[in-house]
Order: sequence, then C-alpha cells, then structure tokens
Amino acid sequence: MSNTVVIGAQWGDEGKGKIVDLLSAESQVIVRFHGGNNAGHTLKVAGKQTVLHLIPSGILNSGTLCLIGNGVVLDPAVFLEELDEVAKSGVDVSPARLGISNKAHLILPYHKRLDRAREQKRAGRKIGTTGRGIGPAYEDKAARIGLRAADLKNPELVQSKVVHALEEKNILLGSLYQAEPLRAEEVCAELLALAPRILPYLENVEARIHKAIKARESILFEGAQGVHLDIDHGTYPFVTSSNTVAGNVSAGCGISPRAIDRVLGIAKAYSTRVGQGPFPTELEDATGNDLREKGHEFGATTGRPRRCGWLDAVVLRESARLNGITDFALTKLDVLAGLPRLKICVAYMLDGERLDWLPQEEGALGRVTPVYEEVPGFSGDISGLRKFRDLPAAAQDYIARIEELAEVPVSLISVGPGREQTIIR
Ligand code: GDP
Ligand code: IMO
Ligand code: MG
Repeated sequence: MSNTVVIGAQWGDEGKGKIVDLLSAESQVIVRFHGGNNAGHTLKVAGKQTVLHLIPSGILNSGTLCLIGNGVVLDPAVFLEELDEVAKSGVDVSPARLGISNKAHLILPYHKRLDRAREQKRAGRKIGTTGRGIGPAYEDKAARIGLRAADLKNPELVQSKVVHALEEKNILLGSLYQAEPLRAEEVCAELLALAPRILPYLENVEARIHKAIKARESILFEGAQGVHLDIDHGTYPFVTSSNTVAGNVSAGCGISPRAIDRVLGIAKAYSTRVGQGPFPTELEDATGNDLREKGHEFGATTGRPRRCGWLDAVVLRESARLNGITDFALTKLDVLAGLPRLKICVAYMLDGERLDWLPQEEGALGRVTPVYEEVPGFSGDISGLRKFRDLPAAAQDYIARIEELAEVPVSLISVGPGREQTIIR
C-alpha cells in the first residue's frame, strides 16, 4: 500500500496523464483534487489516444475506482460529454467506477461567459486563460455564492442560487463587458435537465477514500496544471485559480496530510508554457520551433501552440521544495534527441545579483536573465529503449545533472507517449 500524489513540476502539460495511467495499474483509487476542465491529460494505450479533462486518468485501467474530489470545479455538461466519449471505446464509466464529490462546485454558463468577456476586455494584459470558467467558478466558491454538485438534488435551491448569482453577473456582463446577459430560467432549465444523469455519480468522496485507506488500498492523487501555475506560489497573476501544490490534496479531497507517502513530480525534459506570463528560458527561435514540432506542443484543451524553452532547474528546485517531491518522472526525453548541445538554466541574474530561487515580486521573473550550463546533446531514436543503461551516455549525464541541481532523484523516464514507452529505474 502506498499513496502517491502526482503533480506537474513546471507550468502544466508535463505528461501527468501518461504517468497516472501507467501508475494506475498498481492503484485501486485515482482522485482528482483541484482544477477543472482547464486540464487536458493525454493517454496513449495500444496506439489509441484519449484526452481527459475531468475524469481521472486511471479510468482506462479496469480495476480502478476514479473519484472527483470537492476541490475540483465541475462543468456538468463537459463531464457528461467526456463520459459518453470514453464509454464509446467500451470503458466502464458507470457509478460503480466513477464518483463526484457532493461538495464539488459547479461551473455554470455565466462563469464561462465572464471568463471570456474579461479576457477580451483585458487587451494587452490578458492571462491567456482556457476560457472554461475556472477563475469565476472559484471566485463564487470563495464568495460563498457557488452551486455545489449536491445542490442538483434540490431544484428550488438551484433556482434561488442562480437568480441570486445572476443579479450581480448580469450587471457585469451587460454594463461592464458589453456581453449578453443570461436568463435565470434558461440556466436552471439546462442545468436541471442534466441532473438525472449526474446524480447517480454523487457521493461522499472523503468517506470513500477513508474506506480505501482503511482497506490498505493504494491511492493515486492526480494533480492538474503545474506548481508554477499555483494561485499562491505560481507566477502570479499569470496563474490558475486553484492551489496546484501537493499540500492541496488534503483540502481538495478531505484527507489527512499524513495519508501521503510519495510525491512524484512530473517534469518535462525541457520547458513549455501555454498562455501569458514570465518564462525565463523561452526560445523564440528555430530551436523553440523544433521542440514544438517534434514534441507536438499544442494544447490538449485549447489547441494553442505551447511556448517552448530549455529546462529550468531553478523552477524544478523550487517545485521540489514547495511540495516535498520525493522523486521525479522526467518525460519527453526523446524529443531532445538530435540537438547537438543542451542548455540547463541553473540560476538567474537580476539587477546584477545571482538568484538561486524565483524572485517573488510581481514582474521580477520577467526581468531575469537565465544563467545557463551547456552540456552535450545526444542523438538517435531512444523511444524504443526500456533500460536506463541503454540510454546514450550524454542522456544519462543530462539526467544525473538534473538530479544534482534539483536535489531529487529521477525514478522514471518517459521516452514516448505510449504507456509502455517508459524506463523505470
Ligand atoms: P498533462 O496535462 O501533464 O497530462 O500533459 P498533456 O497530455 O497535456 O501533454 C503531454 C503530451 O506529451 C501529450 O500529447 C502526451 O501524449 C505526450 N507525451 C507524454 N510523455 C511523452 C514522452 O515521453 N515523449 C513524447 N514524445 N510525448 C510524450
Ligand atoms: P494540465 O492539467 C497548461 C493555464 C492557462 C492560463 C492559466 C490560467 O493539462 O497540465 P485558467 O483557465 O486555469 O484560468 O487559465 O493557466 N493552464 C494550463 N496550462 N496545462 C494546464 O492543465 C492548464 N490549465 C490552465 O493556459 O495560462
Ligand atoms: Mg495538459
């Protein structure tokens, strides 16, 4: 029995979905604990690709129970669409295998409309959100006017909450953002029409997890986004609206921090970021384009091209510290093959001073110059390799250097999108 948290150590899209799918073979319960369908987690099993936004990435392993915790913001329509999509390939997505916390907050049409209207109005100062209503839904949760999944059992409560929320939202939409206001009756009718299909999935998720802990089952907690998109510790304000750090597992699904044995950080062998915000090692040149093409770096949720750059060990070191990362899974190492030299950012220079950590003042990370260490690259197709010792010497040295700089061992290396394209040390 071992309970593992899987988190992204950079800015998201590190390959969490692939690793969670892989580790699910040895876990009985897989839990999402924060975020919503801003996430896009890609799995490739027996040549077939599946992209999940809300359903935990353990669903393709038939022996697992998949749970969506209270910390998630759930768009009911998106959940049902995803359910139907996954069911098409013959996967059991019945309530016996899938549960949603009664306490999970719902994303409603006005959250999506506000998210998009705000981004439009912010010309020049955009965050580059996914437009899925994530921020506005978490705002309502904090403002104590949100709808929770269990409210769907009570149409009158839904009605009164939607009417109350729209009193404010429609003024913002209509007067400030020149967007179409929404009618409460329509919002409620659409939502309540979905309720009969959602209700069978609702459950007391924390009780279910406690039962699993008692039965000494292995639980996998699936993070979304990445540490540097965390609302507190990320590159604020260019962040998402939830805590992405491992510490949020506890609040996001109602378990004790003592229940966690391992914190596995997923790190891509280079860096990527979607949306706006500082990115010290970004490559706006042919090498960056090459990484994007070879790594198929296009968003799994919005299809946007991902910004690409060299590996940033300062970012990884900070992630290790903020989360107590026990080990790293290094993904997409195959994408680096063919580059004659590789660069690793080992520190930053800011106003003549050398920094080993990310500066904390707003805007400061955008002004740093990376201090690079250059190491030899490697060539050849490594995607068929399954043993560490078979990797080219320069690839082994690259991994050893990352371990030194981040002060955390790399226990798993991914050399392709497929479940089996993995080296476990
Ligand atoms: P997540 O959000 O962290 O789950 O990551 P995404 O699914 O958004 O993006 C990762 C992308 O890289 C997906 O298209 C994966 O199929 C792919 N991928 C994962 N691991 C590897 C790898 O080791 N090599 C290659 N070439 N692709 C990978
Ligand atoms: P996964 O789980 C990469 C980014 C958006 C934007 C910022 C805020 O697939 O790694 P939001 O819609 O959350 O308010 O957008 O966060 N973002 C992600 N970037 N991977 C993700 O998820 C992301 N989820 C949100 O691009 O910059
Ligand atoms: Mg993704």
